[in-house]
Amino acid sequence: MARIDTNRWSVEDSVDLYGVRSWGKDFFSVNDRGHLCVGDQATSSSIDVKDLVDEVVERGIDAPLLVRFSDLLRARIDHIHGAFESAIGEYEYQGSFRGVYPIKVNQNRFLVEDLVSHGGRYHYGLEAGSKPELLAVMSLLSDDEALVICNGYKDAEYIETALLASRIGPKVILVVEKPSELPHIVSISRRLGIRPRIGIRTRLSTRGAGHWEASGGDRSKFGLGAREILEAVDYLAQEEMTDCFELLHFHLGSQISSIRNVKDALREGGWLYVNLVKKGIPLRYFDVGGGLGVDYDGSQTNFPSSMNYSLQEYANDIVGGMMEVCDPAGVAHPILVTESGRATVAHHALLVVEVLGVGELGVGQLPDKPPEDAPTVLGHLFDTFHGLTSKNLQEAYHDAQQYRDDCLALFNLGLMSLDHRVLAEDIFWAICRRSQQLVRDLGRTPPELEGIEKALADTFFCNFSVFQSLPDSWAINQLFPVLPIHRLEEKPERLGILADITCDSDGKIDSFISPRDVRPVLELHDQRSEEGPYYLGIALVGAYQEILGDLHNLFGDTNTVHVASDGKGGYDIEHVVAGDTVRECLRYVGYHRNDLVAGVRKAAEKAIQAGRLTRKDARHLMQIYERGLAGYTYLERE
Ligand SMILES: Cc1ncc(COP(=O)(O)O)c(C=O)c1O
Repeated sequence: MARIDTNRWSVEDSVDLYGVRSWGKDFFSVNDRGHLCVGDQATSSSIDVKDLVDEVVERGIDAPLLVRFSDLLRARIDHIHGAFESAIGEYEYQGSFRGVYPIKVNQNRFLVEDLVSHGGRYHYGLEAGSKPELLAVMSLLSDDEALVICNGYKDAEYIETALLASRIGPKVILVVEKPSELPHIVSISRRLGIRPRIGIRTRLSTRGAGHWEASGGDRSKFGLGAREILEAVDYLAQEEMTDCFELLHFHLGSQISSIRNVKDALREGGWLYVNLVKKGIPLRYFDVGGGLGVDYDGSQTNFPSSMNYSLQEYANDIVGGMMEVCDPAGVAHPILVTESGRATVAHHALLVVEVLGVGELGVGQLPDKPPEDAPTVLGHLFDTFHGLTSKNLQEAYHDAQQYRDDCLALFNLGLMSLDHRVLAEDIFWAICRRSQQLVRDLGRTPPELEGIEKALADTFFCNFSVFQSLPDSWAINQLFPVLPIHRLEEKPERLGILADITCDSDGKIDSFISPRDVRPVLELHDQRSEEGPYYLGIALVGAYQEILGDLHNLFGDTNTVHVASDGKGGYDIEHVVAGDTVRECLRYVGYHRNDLVAGVRKAAEKAIQAGRLTRKDARHLMQIYERGLAGYTYLERE
């Protein structure tokens, strides 16, 4: 069993250990009962997550459970808008700010409705990156002042729909992603008699950094280069539509971890804006796209899962940076638009998973010395174990590795018995455990021994699918904060990794946040079934995860609850959305309920006739089968 060495423990120790103050600063805390609490601390309303989960489970809605905290979503909108308002006030910027939410980041209807309703006071807009997203956006926004930004590649139908949408409310801006879209927009708008609002996405030479670096730069997939923009300007002049070109857009990529990249992009994009205005283009909007980061690991560095700047610094740099280029050129300050997706919605969702069991390295009782008939090399392993001290740690570990390999070689040649092989493995792991303890006492880990913690970690099997609920953890090694949602007043005595219930060896989490580096293990508690379920929370999962998640092994969407604080220390459950049933997931891959049931019924009939199944068992089988189809895709309680 992998244990950590701590003697005293308090809630504060857990807060430090799991970095709650760093990644969760405005929203996450731990109460005296050792429960994780979530809420907008500015309004001192916070929700006890364990109490909430217990209540929801009592109603029959089991984990895995995605909890959406509406207060956090609303607070993030306020924070982002507030940061720009504050920068605009401080710098005496003459333009205004318009936030736009790209629904690709999380299209969930309740979430987007909530965002539109709360953001209405700021005329928050929406961004569509495709035709289906535009159709969704059209039904949601009715504010004439809000922007609808239409990005993504466009066919004639997309363009026509967007132009017609501009007749029913918001300011719809068609952003040209590639030169060939422009003639289509011009001809369709002529046919419909609707003057389009046109934006052009520019392909900046400046690049972001990290996973989404390729979204920017000269060779990026989207946008027009400087020459293409000039050609577009000439074309619009020729078509007498120069006045339609209202917005200049760029997007550097998601999760920009270094403010340097934001500053560089702003300078290049800003000068482009100024040059175009000087050429007589009546641009009004400067759209800096998305990319505002989320500090997933709380390290405040330019590490890919973090960011080395604050929201206020981001807003200041955009507002101030634009003034720096506009003022000397005598160009009016534009309306600033951001398309922050991740930074708007990541915080609001927490995934709660239940630990099903713990797999640990099974090591038998060790004798003091090797059996008389054991090969000499087994004796060497025993000697290494008994002679292990902090002085010879590295050498002893190397020796142990070699003796273990030698034992395996002897076994493979038929020269070592199974009993002796098992003893060799037990003694090797005992050496690793003792080395781990000595490393801790030493306070530093020799490079050769860095893998020991991971090798000795317990495996906490959890009822969820990484592929469905945390695809970025699997696909791009994105880190998310993971911590127990209760028992935080107790010492976490084990070191573990998480494994999901898919039959895929990649379905695991073995990288965890740490202020200095990525950790291969996480401190967790003993799972004591007599004390009820042990729940873990995976935080900051509100952006991209749900929609990028897939049906690997046919594990579907999890149950979801939307909660909001009632302002009196309690909460209201606003919506409960049941997760996918097995039947829904099977239908998605072409299996229909009636065909499935008919197929199994036919097979059961044949079995009855062949005397392999009684009528009673056949009825039971059909009942179980139908119940399975209607049930949750994850493991269910007895
Ligand atoms: C054009 C555009 N705008 C906005 C976004 C949202 O980016 P983020 O979630 O990093 O804010 C994206 C996503 O990559 C995008 O492609």
